[in-house]
Amino acid sequence: MIADPLKTQSAAKMTESPQHSVAPVSARHDFVLEVNNFSVDYGVGEDMVRAVNDVTLKLRRSQVLGIAGESGSGKSTLVYAMTRLLRAPGVISSGDVKLNLTNEGDPEEVTPLSLVDASERELRNIRWSHVSIVLQSALNALNPVLRVSREFNEVLKTHRKGMTRSQRHDRSVELLKMVGLNEDRLARFPHELSGGQRQRIMIALALALDPELVIMDEPTTALDVVTQREIINELNDLRSRYGFAMIFITHDLSLLVELADEIVVMYAGAIVERAGASELYQAPRHPYTLGLLNSFPPLHGERRELAGIPGSPPDLAELPEGCSFAPRCPFAMQRCRHEAPPLTNIGDSDRSVACWLHSGDPSVRVPVELSREMNPSRTRVTALKERT
Ligand SMILES: Nc1ncnc2c1ncn2[C@@H]1O[C@H](COP(=O)(O)OP(=O)(O)O)[C@@H](O)[C@H]1O
Ligand code: SF4
Ligand SMILES: [Mg+2]
Repeated sequence: MIADPLKTQSAAKMTESPQHSVAPVSARHDFVLEVNNFSVDYGVGEDMVRAVNDVTLKLRRSQVLGIAGESGSGKSTLVYAMTRLLRAPGVISSGDVKLNLTNEGDPEEVTPLSLVDASERELRNIRWSHVSIVLQSALNALNPVLRVSREFNEVLKTHRKGMTRSQRHDRSVELLKMVGLNEDRLARFPHELSGGQRQRIMIALALALDPELVIMDEPTTALDVVTQREIINELNDLRSRYGFAMIFITHDLSLLVELADEIVVMYAGAIVERAGASELYQAPRHPYTLGLLNSFPPLHGERRELAGIPGSPPDLAELPEGCSFAPRCPFAMQRCRHEAPPLTNIGDSDRSVACWLHSGDPSVRVPVELSREMNPSRTRVTALKERT
């Protein structure tokens, strides 16, 4: 579901509010979101498990950051906690999340807001207007007794108080068109729509107030492959037309490659690899990334043999010593079972990996499937062009 649909007020008011104490900075900030050393636990004491472990990431304006990983790797916990939607027994145990809000009067100016320290009022002010979220359960998030028109009407009425009834109707029609739906869907109840149509409506609602950041948690997981592909194409089109930044979460890494500019791969709550989407797809460096790529058929392009990953994700309460992927890793070495590899840059590139294979130790032979070069003739852009 999308957070707090009826309560949010204009974020413009927030920047005028005396309670909002951070002064605007004058230069436009390149990053819309900056997450630093962020950790999230469930429970306390002996029963505590760390579901998000020391995550650091940055998202540039208008870019798509993909987050991939098997079920249970901490993807949803990360975005719930980042946006302060996390419920007990979840607690943020360390780190910070900074949202650089564009000021309405001057888009060149931004105001940083710490989401970890923000008050409930500040959070209400930014949800929908600046950050909107389509959560994992989105297919069931529409109110079953309300026609679609009411959902749009309520959001617009609450956040765009100056709009007349007919302007709200026109905007609702425009939003439906943006996601490829006819205006006659406005009169429907959710049960009269297909899963794909309901998901498009959730996406249209998320875009209703032109947010600068849209977070989508597995929005296409419950849909068939054809509808998944259509929605990914539409999201690509929408973000290039409207310029919002997006975090897109999925366990299907092949799907993410179609949409993301940069991808982080999570395992047992930690980032194990971070790279540009094309680099990660064509030249993975972490054995887990390679396993994920071999677990799903690509939507387009060259077919890979599907091998999957042996074993299952670890129990967070009983993580192995050393590298948490070691029990499933075909390349595990002695060192891996005792020492946890830190996330470090590979050579002088700006991609990073948490794996001892890439530590630069000359006695370690990196397997060919984890050391191949990028094929410059097949980037993500050419893959997208081939599709049209
Ligand atoms: N409500 C909860 N109480 C206790 N532990 C939880 C709860 N929700 C999630 N977890 C733990 O956090 C881990 C990560 O869950 P989640 O963030 O939902 O992963 P993902 O979205 O990648 O599937 C799970 O494996 C589980 O151990
Ligand atoms: S550090 Fe070792 S066990 Fe972990 S992924 Fe790399 S090779 Fe495998
Ligand atoms: Mg999840």
